[in-house]
Order: sequence, then structure tokens, then C-alpha cells
Amino acid sequence: MIGVKGMSRTPLLAGNWKMHKNVKETLGFLDEFIPLAKGISAEVAVFPPFTSLWAAAEKIKGSGIKLGAQNMHWEDSGAFTGEISPAMLKEIPCDYVIIGHSERRQYFAETDETVNRKVKSALEHGIVPVVCVGESLEQREKGETLPVVLSQVEKSLSEIKIENGSQIVFAYEPIWAIGTGKVALPYDAQEVIGAIRRKLAELYGDVAGEIRILYGGSVKPDNIKDLMAQPDIDGALVGGASLDARAFYQIATYDR
Ligand code: PGA
Repeated sequence: MIGVKGMSRTPLLAGNWKMHKNVKETLGFLDEFIPLAKGISAEVAVFPPFTSLWAAAEKIKGSGIKLGAQNMHWEDSGAFTGEISPAMLKEIPCDYVIIGHSERRQYFAETDETVNRKVKSALEHGIVPVVCVGESLEQREKGETLPVVLSQVEKSLSEIKIENGSQIVFAYEPIWAIGTGKVALPYDAQEVIGAIRRKLAELYGDVAGEIRILYGGSVKPDNIKDLMAQPDIDGALVGGASLDARAFYQIATYDR
């Protein structure tokens, strides 16, 4: 049922490391985190920088921890200096790829159109895109949160069919909450995430009840529980707090 956390929506705690951790640091984190992960019932995924993906993939084999990249190009190969293709991520192998993070939209000219191309391409390659949407402080103050966020959702999905809820994940990340220590109130996050689910239901019917929608922005061990208590919040995209194995473990065991 729409809006009710169903059995089909396994909670997902995703650690977006951004431009942090070289190979050695990645392996150090995993040395500490892999034994802890045995005690986690939710799904956990880490998103290291590209240079650490291969080493991380080797290290997490058999641990149940999932792996993702932070961005990709939509083409399989070509003259795109500095870019990484979905086929390259599939080879690692990556389970997930973050698409349209607000830092990419803000600093690297990511647009709704490039997000849409990347989402299409990730789906074609069987990599689950974690599509990020979210409003700025100015937009929130002007009362534009829902129109902005729902337009990002709709544009990211232009000409895309979703038949199975496990094909895609959304992350609602209000820009003013990212890296600021100002987490959204659980009820406010629920309001937006509930609206995203209703938009997905308009587009895809019942499948919307299977699609996981995460909250992101200053998630910490002490605020995750209240966020997860909201009916439509299916997990979190965690930046800063995911860099510490213990803190990320505490977040992933919010249900204790
Ligand atoms: P933060 O980052 O948890 O450090 O606020 C979240 C994100 O950008 O995904």
C-alpha cells in the first residue's frame, strides 16, 4: 500500500563518502566495518571515490555489503576525458550509482536533462541509480519545496519505464541540510518524501509502493531513529557520519 512501509522495502543505509578516503583508508574502514556489518539487518552500501572501488569490491566479497559509485557518464565509452562509464562500473561490480547529487548539480553543471540520461543508462546496465533531489534554502523559504522537488523527480524519469521497484532508489536531500548539521524535522522530511511517492504512483501505479526513498542531510546516530519512524522514509544517504565505521554502524542499527 502506498505510504506504508511494506515488506518489499528493505531499509537502505547508504554511505556517500564524497571525495574522502584513498585506497588505504578505504580498506582500513572496511577492516573495521565488515565484522560489524554481520550484525546489521538493514541493507548497507558504501560509495567510495572511483579510485577505491576495485579494492573495496574485492574486500567486501561475501560480506553482504553493497557497493556504489558517486557518478557516471551515460555513454558506454568514447572521447570523454575524465569520465567513467556505466560498463566500467558494472565490471567492478557496482550495485548502485548516485545520480544528480546536489554537489554535482551545483559545482559540475549537472542538469535535470543529464540526470535523466544517466538514470536511463544506469537502468539499461542494471545498476541501481540513487537519484538525488532537493530544494535550496531560498526555495524552501519561498514555499517552493514541493514544486521544485517533484519537478526534479518527474524530469529525472522522463521517458523511463519502471516495472519493478527494486530498479531505482530516490534520495530526498534538502540542500540546506547537507553537511550543515541542520537535519530536516522528521515530519517535514516525511511530507516531501510522501509527496515524492505520490508522484511516483501517478507515473507508475502500485510500483511506487516498492520504490525506496531515502532521506539525506546531516543524518547522525542520534537522529536516524526518528527519521526511520516515518512511514515513507526507507533509509538514509549519509555523508559525513558514514566516514566513521562505528558511527555508520550505529546509524545502520537504528532499530536496536
Ligand atoms: P551529510 O551529507 O550527511 O554530510 O550532510 C549527505 C549527502 O550529501 O549525501
